[in-house]
Amino acid sequence: MDYADTIKKIVTRISPSPTVFIRSFGCRLNVSDGNSLLGKILDMGFTVTNDVNCAALIILNTCAVRENAEKKVYGVIGELKHVKEKNPDVIIAVCGCMIEENHVAEFIKNTYRHVDFCFGTFAYGKFPELLYNALTTAEFQCDNNKYPTDFTDFNLYQDNVIKADVPIMYGCNNYCSYCIVPYVRGRERSREVSDILSDIRSLTDNGFKEILLLGQNVNSYGNTLLPPTPFSSLLKQAAEIPGDFKIRFMSPHPKDMRKDLIDIIAEYPKLCKSIHLPLQSGSNRILELMNRQYSRETYMEIVKYIRKKIPGCTISTDIIVGFPSETEYDFEETLSIIKEAKFYNIFSFIYSKRVGTKAADLPDKTTAAEKTSRMTRLLSLQREISTELYAKYVGKTLTVLFDGTSKTEGLISGKSDEGIIVEAPGKTDKIGEYRKVRITGSHNWALHGEIL
Ligand code: SAH
Ligand code: SF4
Ligand code: F3S
Repeated sequence: MDYADTIKKIVTRISPSPTVFIRSFGCRLNVSDGNSLLGKILDMGFTVTNDVNCAALIILNTCAVRENAEKKVYGVIGELKHVKEKNPDVIIAVCGCMIEENHVAEFIKNTYRHVDFCFGTFAYGKFPELLYNALTTAEFQCDNNKYPTDFTDFNLYQDNVIKADVPIMYGCNNYCSYCIVPYVRGRERSREVSDILSDIRSLTDNGFKEILLLGQNVNSYGNTLLPPTPFSSLLKQAAEIPGDFKIRFMSPHPKDMRKDLIDIIAEYPKLCKSIHLPLQSGSNRILELMNRQYSRETYMEIVKYIRKKIPGCTISTDIIVGFPSETEYDFEETLSIIKEAKFYNIFSFIYSKRVGTKAADLPDKTTAAEKTSRMTRLLSLQREISTELYAKYVGKTLTVLFDGTSKTEGLISGKSDEGIIVEAPGKTDKIGEYRKVRITGSHNWALHGEIL
């Protein structure tokens, strides 16, 4: 049965212009999944709305990485009860990483009776069938079976006209002891090089100026392909595609950050000089407990090689504060590597216990107050480092892709090649092209400049 076509007929009978509201939580890969799903829904005859009260179909694409992320989703599902009361015809679906956790799927089923159906990260392809069933019966459905990934069932819909996301691989084999991702996303699998290159060509032919290659662990890309193709080879071929555009990627794992990959980034101007290299902790004891497969020494060797081969390349990182058994000494090891590595930006998270992960069984005696206090100290150190690093850009000229307006009136905002936010006086006609900007001022989170 052609569900998409039948759904089109059913929904246009209910409303001549049916609308969909979709909200994705979590990482960029999840947002990109949400966009791919949205692309297919638009093909069924829906248009997008930002108002849940007007929507015929509401989709929440969830994230399970930390407890806070899940709480946020529960809050939003709870609020939708009133929407369903006002409009009993609305179809509400909850999908994504949280649905892969059986206890969560069960909880949603039992607690939120206004949800029509749920589907996990392996079941995006089942969406048309689930929606059809929801439109024709009142039965609650949940599909979190582990279907094989169908890379042909993929839509390149983007939520932006300047920057485009291209997923290159899904899943993760690393099993860091704190992390739920391998459980909710499954084992690593990569898209074919030729498909990825053809996506990049078609997006850049359509005017996109920045391509973001996405994966849970991008630099282990290609291990499942026949023959295996390293990420450095994909990146080289992508950077050789002609056109006025640049390429970023997210997120690499330090253990797979080989020299040949750094050499390729150094060689090609199309590859942005900015690398996000998640560290998590500066303590070797904690890194071992986290199963990260590198030490602070090997991590710093990579940082030094990047600095040597790509002068001016910025490095950002992720840090987890308060991993089980983290002592004051361990935490100070993290502060000391932060001082040494001089990251231009840090994304820091207080450890969150995830059911089913190895770290969930580790004893954790550090109080919540102590963890918060460590987080405050980390943020304050990073603020000092960022302020100092950003000030060094004043007087220099950077290449910036402006992609929106700033909160401050009269300013437009974008990112430099180095991944730093830059704001400058300008009109929207300066948006969407690479501009040379002379930097005139700095904060600890952004630079100010004048477009040349
Ligand atoms: N694949 C990437 C990032 C995955 S999740 C990597 O290898 O680093 C993004 C970030 O969330 C992680 O880098 C980590 O810092 C954080 N994170 C993951 N699980 C967490 C948990 N249980 N508690 C706190 N932070 C967590
Ligand atoms: Fe999670 Fe580690 Fe995989 Fe990143 S590499 S997704 S932190 S298990
Ligand atoms: Fe969250 Fe799933 Fe991404 S758990 S971080 S949305 S892979």
